[in-house]
Amino acid sequence: VREQGVVIFLFGATGDLASRKLYPAIYSMYREGKLSDKFAVVGLARRPRTNEQFRDDVFQSIQEFARHKAGADDPEWIRFAEHFEYMPLDIHNVDGFRRLSETASRLEGQFGIAGNRLFYLALAPDLFGSVAQNLLEGGVLECSGWHRLVIEKPFGFDLPSAEKLNAELQSVFTEKEIYRIDHYLGKEMVQNINVVRFANTLFEPLWNNKYIANIQITLSETVGVEDRGGYYDHSGALRDMAQNHMLQMVTMMAMEAPSRLHPEDIRDEKVKVLRSLRGFSTSEEVSQNVVRGQYTAGTVKGQEKPGYRSEDSVNPDSVTETYFAAKVFVDNFRWAGVPFYIRTGKRLPVKTTEVVVEFKSIPDNVYLAKNKRLQPNLLVFRVHPLEGIYLKINAKEPGSDETIIPVAMDFCQSCQVGINTPEAYERLLFDAVRGDSTHFTRWDEVALAWQYVDRIKAAWNEGADDLRLYPAGSWGPKESHELLERDGFHWWPIN
Ligand code: BG6
Repeated sequence: VREQGVVIFLFGATGDLASRKLYPAIYSMYREGKLSDKFAVVGLARRPRTNEQFRDDVFQSIQEFARHKAGADDPEWIRFAEHFEYMPLDIHNVDGFRRLSETASRLEGQFGIAGNRLFYLALAPDLFGSVAQNLLEGGVLECSGWHRLVIEKPFGFDLPSAEKLNAELQSVFTEKEIYRIDHYLGKEMVQNINVVRFANTLFEPLWNNKYIANIQITLSETVGVEDRGGYYDHSGALRDMAQNHMLQMVTMMAMEAPSRLHPEDIRDEKVKVLRSLRGFSTSEEVSQNVVRGQYTAGTVKGQEKPGYRSEDSVNPDSVTETYFAAKVFVDNFRWAGVPFYIRTGKRLPVKTTEVVVEFKSIPDNVYLAKNKRLQPNLLVFRVHPLEGIYLKINAKEPGSDETIIPVAMDFCQSCQVGINTPEAYERLLFDAVRGDSTHFTRWDEVALAWQYVDRIKAAWNEGADDLRLYPAGSWGPKESHELLERDGFHWWPIN
């Protein structure tokens, strides 16, 4: 990247994602030397903006959201800002794309960039197809280096719409040129799952149905739908979180070790997990294994919050789920009989992402005579807000003879002073620029995930009367607890 350089075309340059995540990411990459001076960013959106205004927007976003701050008179900032240009663009009009092609060539000449072009679409997905087509027709893809497309979720609304979108994109870009973002795959501790599993003798031999009782994945949020009611009311938690982030985390926990650390080898292993998911074939199976809920008014972190149906742009009779929990089975040799419990929801008591591995009990525990029951061993991946890993084991209570207490070996990465972990977007953008697609979702993963989710959605559409209400600030409907209690388990409290 440093030698060859790249032009990044940012569609949706005036939007929220660009300002919160993408400009800060580009700045961090620059500050950390991952980008040399051979780069340019072309900001594209409908509204008119001068280069100066655009650079000012970028400056504001960096001040507010970046890990590294810039000073307006700082020579480094001034040099960085010169690489940013803005161009108003109507994405339905191919003439604008022809001008874009000229701009690209000019910038490549100016900064000595070897014709590599990265197109980042921070746009509504229904626009992806036209942009791809116009990039082709406007000649923007005619460059001497590589070109790649980075797109945001949602990738479709169900399997048929995802297939249609994929066909549109693949008429212009090859699969290897398409980088589908799932920002959870850019999170430090999600990436660490494979390392902890495959680089430690301690865990991998136990990582199967002989020793693991269940796995619990929680992605809880305190926010409601904020200003995204229009999108969310047509999506719901199943499509918004489960189809992508949650199933991706299941695959990370369940996959076999890849034969090499090559993107395709890793993604092949993930696909095998998705193929092994037990699809639900009847509405009864869905009601037994899935819980959907919607928040009503309640108190979150001491503040009164309205119910979902009173939120902006939400249908007052909406039956969209803001909570989703499921018992997922991976039907293969390693995981036969081990439930993966997953849950996600808006307006829950805390914002957290955590994965808990609950191990089975010791078969003949001699200490049971003196202790009513022993806690199982737990291995916990803390993804957010704390980043770290902890292991709960049983040990002797100091000073007692046989009283056993659980103790934790706690590695808190984010507590260590000086560790300024890169944001997920920073890592993903850098990977896309250097052509590493490991942490992006391949089409077959997306398709299989939709297939799994569509069956659940179809059962709900058949009129299953199982939308459960839960007050904002609670841990979701009681049925989500019953889902585990029926199997003799419970959700481990979030630490
Ligand atoms: C997005 C969803 O993909 O992830 C949002 O569309 C959700 O609804 C967000 O709030 C959560 O991401 P994070 O990184 O804040 O946990």
